[in-house]
Amino acid sequence: MRKFIIAVSTLVFACTGSGPSNEKSTKVEDLLSKMTLEEKVGQLNFLIGDGFNTGPTLMTRESNNFDVLVKEGKITGLFNVYGAKYTARLQKIAVEQSRLKIPLLFGADVIHGFKTVAPIPLAEAASWDLAEIERSAQVAAEESSAVGINWTFAPMVDVCRDPRWGRVLEGAGEDPFLASRIAEARVRGFQGKSLADARTIAACVKHFAAYGAPLAGRDYTEVDMSERQLREVYLPPYEAAIKQGAATVMNAFNDFNGIPATANKFLLQQVLRKEWKFNGVVVSDWQSIGELIPHGIAADSAQAAQLAMDASVDVDMMANVYASQLIRLIQAGSIKQSQLDDAVRRVLQLKFDLGLFDDPYRYSNEEREKKEMRTDAQVNSALSMAKKSIVLLKNENELLPFSKDESTLAVIGPLANAPAEMNGSWSFFGEPQHAVSILDGIRKKVSPKTSVLFAEGCNLYDDATDKFAQAKAIAQRASKLIVVLGESAVMNGEGASRSSIGLPGVQLDLLKALAETKKPLVVVLVSGRPLTLEWVDQHMPAILETWTLGSEAGNAVAEVLFGDYNPSGKLPITFPRNEGQIPIYYSHKHGGRPYEGDYQDPLNVRIYKSKYRDVRNEPLYPFGYGLSYTKFEYSNLIIDKEKMSTDESVEVSVTVKNVGKVAGEEVVQWYIRDWVGSVTRPVKELKGFEKILLQPGESKTVKLNITSEVLSFYRADMSWGVEPGKFSVMVGTNSANVLAKDFVLN
Ligand code: BGC
Repeated sequence: MRKFIIAVSTLVFACTGSGPSNEKSTKVEDLLSKMTLEEKVGQLNFLIGDGFNTGPTLMTRESNNFDVLVKEGKITGLFNVYGAKYTARLQKIAVEQSRLKIPLLFGADVIHGFKTVAPIPLAEAASWDLAEIERSAQVAAEESSAVGINWTFAPMVDVCRDPRWGRVLEGAGEDPFLASRIAEARVRGFQGKSLADARTIAACVKHFAAYGAPLAGRDYTEVDMSERQLREVYLPPYEAAIKQGAATVMNAFNDFNGIPATANKFLLQQVLRKEWKFNGVVVSDWQSIGELIPHGIAADSAQAAQLAMDASVDVDMMANVYASQLIRLIQAGSIKQSQLDDAVRRVLQLKFDLGLFDDPYRYSNEEREKKEMRTDAQVNSALSMAKKSIVLLKNENELLPFSKDESTLAVIGPLANAPAEMNGSWSFFGEPQHAVSILDGIRKKVSPKTSVLFAEGCNLYDDATDKFAQAKAIAQRASKLIVVLGESAVMNGEGASRSSIGLPGVQLDLLKALAETKKPLVVVLVSGRPLTLEWVDQHMPAILETWTLGSEAGNAVAEVLFGDYNPSGKLPITFPRNEGQIPIYYSHKHGGRPYEGDYQDPLNVRIYKSKYRDVRNEPLYPFGYGLSYTKFEYSNLIIDKEKMSTDESVEVSVTVKNVGKVAGEEVVQWYIRDWVGSVTRPVKELKGFEKILLQPGESKTVKLNITSEVLSFYRADMSWGVEPGKFSVMVGTNSANVLAKDFVLN
């Protein structure tokens, strides 16, 4: 039986020990003492390499454009280039021709897989399967570490409660607890047990901090929030990743409470360095040091450099501000020599920790590049991750799974036959020819007797309806319809916020036209974010959210459509009914005037309760929601004591039974409510989960141990701890459907 257990109290502060070391290394000090000012500044200068796009794929241009910079020690490394031969060539220049022989960092946005493209991170989060997520990051590390890459700009751990934001796809959703556990799993996957292992790479936790809460969901805008909200909701995943040993951190682009993250001493000095004792490298986001000028807190590059150094940003990615300004600022005494030395020390330490001084070629392995790329094991792992990421949103009258012997199936939609789109927004190393389209996945899965018809139906975005007729015609010939709709990869990701998050273009009209055929129909959604789906939910019998599943998308979707895999994904983020409900999340406050009516209130009557006039308060699909081809029954919620003191713990257990006809996995979710506190508390907070496999008729007892730490929060004076009083513990199949028991903390 596959399962994983969250032991809340033990996991939170577990550490692999592969993160930055806090001890002064004599090797680093020795090297530092030999460096000129210019060489020190060179170690903080980080540039993108020469690449070119071939469609959605990025290829390294093995140019000699950087040879001189490397030889002169003017760059610390390059990013988004790869290739064992090319990176070895540059390392050779660094360690043979530069004065101090300091090897190079090769960074890359290995966000969801490398050549084997994994599901987008939001999709992986929907699996709630930490072992699988860890393995997915490990596969990415195995592949990228063979071609010279020793540092990934992942995991992104930004909590996001606003699906208009395009980068929601890159994180783990809305909840700090789930996002923290996933952040830890990803760090473990990338870094393994030792950074010096040639099959692991350094992780970079990003984007510090609160990048996931931009005003109105528009990328790069300001973030303004209370310190309480920051600490309760947004900081936990960064902290968890750092406690897990993440080697590096990337600062965010956004302005945070009036001070851009790149220059924010509260975030970087107070929280990150002082409170969390993080002594690893902080890298700026792309040109974010230079962006202090348009932000309006630096008048020129010199001031930008000063502000970023004072906040302890070590490495300048792409702004050329440190390279152009630091020497003068040091000579003028505006930046202390010790500040510069600290930054350089951290970079050198990272290079030592990666084992680059022992063997600069350890990540540039031509043999591994040939043999350990897209191996069967790696591709199988991507398939396993992909099928676990799919969420079944609706399945009226058990329409799904379809039979593989269906006589004629019509597969319709602009994303059905779109292999390159399956690779998703952050996959510029993945190659489109490796991605399996949903149409191909279906064709491979059905019996030889089944005829599979295909029509595009419409384009992704425009208003043209001229392809509807052909789609309707093939729909008429089929016994069942599979309609694949959603977003292409450029509609989500960086710089791709949307103000309205419905199906783009005329896709909904296409669906309505196909519904007129009255044929049994499943909607297969491809997206990088929650979509607004009220009409679809009201009128369509079956809906599968497949996000964007990577190279193995089509195979994974086919396994679920035809019942080879029973879907087990649960939403890591709430699906709103419409955009006006945003931000919407399950762990909201109760408020003094909650609305508990029946939504039949006449429109001409004013009701002094917290509600909308035109939409229910509840979301379309709540956090934690997801169906299965079987049914699970929760019973017997037992609490071992009704009163606990602060040095005790309470054990709760529940019985979960598979009462359906097929085996299935269920994510058992535990929530807590603290009824009265010195500050208002959320109506529910996730505190644990366990994914269990149950055979038909099988039942299992699932437990949660509640300690004081689990019940702690930032009290009115911002101290961390508990307050006595009544609590509820809740357990269920999603955040809106739970059994509850109360207990009292004395
Ligand atoms: C993104 C980062 C990314 C960097 C380097 C920036 O635009 O915000 O997440 O790591 O580019 O490609």
